[in-house]
Amino acid sequence: GVQVVILPSAAEAEQHVATLFAEQLRRKPDSVLGLATGGTPVGVYRALVAAHRLGEADFGRARTFNLDEYAGVPSAHPQSYAAYMRTHLFDLVNLTPDRTHLPEGDAANAEDACRLYDALYRYYGPADLQLLGIGLNGHIGFNEPGFASAPGGTHVVRLDESTRRANARFFGADEQVPEYALTMSAGRILQARSIVLLATGAAKAAIVARALEGPIGTDCPASLLQLHPDATVVLDREAAGAL
Ligand code: GLP
Repeated sequence: GVQVVILPSAAEAEQHVATLFAEQLRRKPDSVLGLATGGTPVGVYRALVAAHRLGEADFGRARTFNLDEYAGVPSAHPQSYAAYMRTHLFDLVNLTPDRTHLPEGDAANAEDACRLYDALYRYYGPADLQLLGIGLNGHIGFNEPGFASAPGGTHVVRLDESTRRANARFFGADEQVPEYALTMSAGRILQARSIVLLATGAAKAAIVARALEGPIGTDCPASLLQLHPDATVVLDREAAGAL
C-alpha cells in the first residue's frame, strides 16, 4: 500500500521530499525525474536548489519530464509551466534545456505535441522518481475526476471550472486561466518506478483522506496511487488532518 509520512510543518515536508530527490540523484546520477508545478512544490525546488549549491544534488546527467502544460500558452509566457520550472529550478541548477521536457503548450497542433511528448517519455522514461501534487478535486497532473477510460499517453484535456478557479491566483486580474491543457495521462504517471505525492495545508485534508482511504477510481484520480507498488505520500500535519 501507499506509505504515508506525516511531518509537523510544510517546510519539513518540502525538505523531506527534496531529500528524496537528492538521494535519487546520488543513487542514480542519470535519473529521469518526473516533475510537477503548482504552489505545493515551490518549497521542494527551493530546498533542492539549496542542496545543489551545497554539492548534494548534481543534475548534470539527469533528465526531467513535467506532467503538464497549459494549452495555447507559449513557454515564454510567465504563467506557463515552462516558465515556472525555469524560475524555480531549471535556471538555478545544472540542467540544460535539452534535458528538460514539458509538453509544448502553444504548438500549432496540440494532438501532435502530445504524441511527440509521449514518444519522448516512452523513449527516455519512465520516471525513476515522480513528484506529484494533488488538486482540490483529486486531480493528478491535469487528469480531472471522471476522465474517460484509460486515455493512452499524453493528451489534451478540458480543465474543470473548479481547477481554473483554483489556479486563477497565478494569473493577472485581466488574464483568463486557459480552458485546456496537455497532460500526461494517469496511466502514464503510474508507470513511474517510484512516486512521491506532496500535500500541505488544511485545504487538502479532505481530498487527501479520500485519495488514501476512499475507493480506488477515476472519481478521485489520486486514489489510483493505491494501485502503485512504490508510492509515498508526504503530508504536513494539516493535510493529514482528516486521516
Ligand atoms: C495544478 C497542477 C497539478 C497540481 C495541482 C495542485 O493545477 N496541474 O499538477 O498538483 O493543480 O496545485 P497546488 O499545489 O497549487 O495546490
